[in-house]
Amino acid sequence: MDHGQRAQGLDIEAIRRELTDDFDEELEMEMEEERLERLADAIGDTPRPPGMDRRRYFRELFRLQHELVRLQDWVQAQKLRVVVIFEGRDSAGKGGAIKRITQRLNPRVCRVAALPAPSERERTQWYFQRYVAHLPAGGEIVLFDRSWYNRAGVERVMGFCTPDEVEEFFRSVPEFERMLVRSGIIVLKYWFSITDEEQALRFSMRIHDPLKQWKLSPMDVQSRRLWEDYTKAKEVMLARTHIPEAPWWVVEAVDKKKARLNCIAHLLSQIPYGEVPRAPVHLPERERHDDYARQPV
Ligand code: ADP
Ligand code: AMP
Ligand code: MLT
Repeated sequence: MDHGQRAQGLDIEAIRRELTDDFDEELEMEMEEERLERLADAIGDTPRPPGMDRRRYFRELFRLQHELVRLQDWVQAQKLRVVVIFEGRDSAGKGGAIKRITQRLNPRVCRVAALPAPSERERTQWYFQRYVAHLPAGGEIVLFDRSWYNRAGVERVMGFCTPDEVEEFFRSVPEFERMLVRSGIIVLKYWFSITDEEQALRFSMRIHDPLKQWKLSPMDVQSRRLWEDYTKAKEVMLARTHIPEAPWWVVEAVDKKKARLNCIAHLLSQIPYGEVPRAPVHLPERERHDDYARQPV
């Protein structure tokens, strides 16, 4: 969808429709969330403070998404390699933030790596191996929706690995990330932080909503019961892997809108980017052979 190119066809109505569709998509997502928030207030004991005003949110989101496009151009032009890690408890809102980042970007430049549980074969490999396969080439941004930090979180708490493997992970990860950074990769690490009450609320909404039930995995259900264990695991993880070359940034995520805006704004602030000059594009006249020209094909 390139509005700039369509504009030269001068079908203003079509352009308006196209733009509105774009905004509608975001609006739909937002209305869905507000519906859930009302439901949450109905379920919860204490009403939550009102979220951010929708108009203000949209205005700021669109501004930031515009900046992300400029960042994308810069990453492409300068052949930068960027890794962004999204961690946090189940339902913290990592997925929603990632969706808003990728929404307006070229999937060839900015892609998401969300790896499933390791296969039998992968379990026999060096722990970082399957993640390494997803690291960016020049001109690419990779958003990790969960990452190698699974070993310090879900794998540790659920007992999918041994204590020795956890210890080895903590020994390796600072070295591993320093190698990435020394090789020129920009590494950003975000922890999405929610409260116990907020997670309980989000899970109960998933249970009550047929559109959201698929999001509730058996792993999620366990994570409610194991809240304290996850807290302990998180504290150890943040303490042992917070290095100057790749520090953790904590995103307060109970208010989803603020969390997304803060995260995107922070990400933009961490990568100095400039303007990439764009030559104006002129569409050639379409060759016209017959009367089918205006028929949809
Ligand atoms: P999500 O919350 O990301 O939608 P889940 O809650 O189902 O997904 O799982 C959380 C994480 O635990 C995922 O990254 C998944 O790959 C990992 N995981 C699940 N089962 C295993 C396993 N047996 N061994 C290692 N990791 C696992
Ligand atoms: P312990 O075995 O309880 O003496 O704890 C040793 C270290 O491992 C401490 O730093 C704990 O915080 C951490 N730890 C122990 N059990 C868990 C767990 N289930 N999840 C996360 N961290 C743990
Ligand atoms: C999130 O919102 O953090 C992700 O969707 C994880 C989940 O589904 O629990």
